[in-house]
Amino acid sequence: QKAKMTIDKAYILAEADPRLYSSFIEHLGRAVYRGIYESGHPQADERGFRRDVAGLIREIGVPMIRYPGGNFVSGYNWEDGVGPAASRPRRLDLAWRTVETNEVGTNEFIRWAKELNAEVMMAVNLGTRGVDAARNLLEYCNHPSGSYYSDLRISHGYQQPHGIKTWCLGNEMDGPWQIGQKTAEEYGRLAAETAKAMRLVDPSIELVACGSSFRSMPTYAQWEAAVLDHTYEQVDYLSLHTYYGNAENDTANYLAKSLDMDLFIKEIVAVCDYIKAKKRNRKTLNLSFDEWNVWFHTLETDKEITPWQVAPAQLEDCYTFEDALMVGSMLITLLNHADRVKIACLAQLVNAIAPIMTETGGAAWRQSIFYPYMHTSLYGRGTVLRPVIISPLYDSKDYTDVPLLDSAVVWNEAEGELVIFAMNKSLQESLLLECDMRGFLNYQVEEHLVLEHDDVKAVNTVSDPYAVAPHSRGESSVSEGRLTAVLSRLSWNVIRLR
Ligand code: AHR
Repeated sequence: QKAKMTIDKAYILAEADPRLYSSFIEHLGRAVYRGIYESGHPQADERGFRRDVAGLIREIGVPMIRYPGGNFVSGYNWEDGVGPAASRPRRLDLAWRTVETNEVGTNEFIRWAKELNAEVMMAVNLGTRGVDAARNLLEYCNHPSGSYYSDLRISHGYQQPHGIKTWCLGNEMDGPWQIGQKTAEEYGRLAAETAKAMRLVDPSIELVACGSSFRSMPTYAQWEAAVLDHTYEQVDYLSLHTYYGNAENDTANYLAKSLDMDLFIKEIVAVCDYIKAKKRNRKTLNLSFDEWNVWFHTLETDKEITPWQVAPAQLEDCYTFEDALMVGSMLITLLNHADRVKIACLAQLVNAIAPIMTETGGAAWRQSIFYPYMHTSLYGRGTVLRPVIISPLYDSKDYTDVPLLDSAVVWNEAEGELVIFAMNKSLQESLLLECDMRGFLNYQVEEHLVLEHDDVKAVNTVSDPYAVAPHSRGESSVSEGRLTAVLSRLSWNVIRLR
């Protein structure tokens, strides 16, 4: 099989916002406790954060981390997590039915993230709380000094304001599982008033309003329209969330689900632009895809977890090779919408539906999905070009005309590097990619990374951490401005040219 692609410097989609490669840490399962933080672990630093886990996060170069939830934030009192650790309360977390010790809170998390060169995307509780708690948290984080909450932060040992720029106005507020679920009208009004107050505290912040929790929600699209009717002037982004899975064990259909993500983004862009037109507003609203990943392996088994434990193993999906392909395909989809998607958070980062796993007291390792995420974060910086693709198509159970070739192209002009992310979704055959690289005539292949495996169900575990890992023996070459590459069956490819 053969696919053709044309890449031209003139076909510019957008600058890739580095925040496309963001992630998410929620107070959930072993993400915080026994994940990023484990005092007493041989790798723990003087404040209890694991150096080995931090090292793996650094490998990816995560630019921003959403915190502290997720569902958790809708019942969270941020005041519980600041001040002397000994006097912090243990609380029932109703979202995940665990006990939250509050050993780690706002200051510890922000300090840890800053050491990793990651910004924090902070979510405020609009489930059980509202305008007051949100504006107080913002004052605590960002106001320099001379007010009750800024001075409280200083008294807690943080003289300098944290300068948190990006704020989520609640989380998945349409969901019946959410503590303090709201109708679109209730949420829209609350989000607008919270945004107004927060901007009065700090006009430099950026705000994200909640879209639907999933594309399949019954109020999908009407929710977005109603919420934006109230908030359009006040917010900068609308959020999208999605998780895919292969519970039916149908790989071809599974990998086609990136088309659903593509459609999801197009539909939400349409709703945003409809409200823009309705309001005759000149501002174009961008999107924050602040939760996306594969999540299905543990959905059933997690129902058996005994409630009210501290940091139990929850959502610990063990990712297969085909899950890594799906994550790669989702990353390509996000890149090909870089003109409107400015923020995207792989949900999540450590232990709970995560690229990085840890053993309590033991090692940390990379799951299969770590690799496409790391590759795009490292090599997907620059200008996203619109490749013109002619690919063979296939049909699956739920999708028709699925291109076998999935690709996104990023030109890093400053580094003089052109990067082609390409996936072959064929279960049977390799795909010969022929690419006309007009405008990049002198470029040669520097490296061709490949993630492939004979077994779609192969996984990395603590005892076999490199079962699924990329190699750099990809077959590609350039002659007279034309790239020829062999994309082996079911493979993720990163072709770097200079
Ligand atoms: O990421 C796991 C959960 O998925 C989040 O807490 C919630 O926002 C979503 O439903």
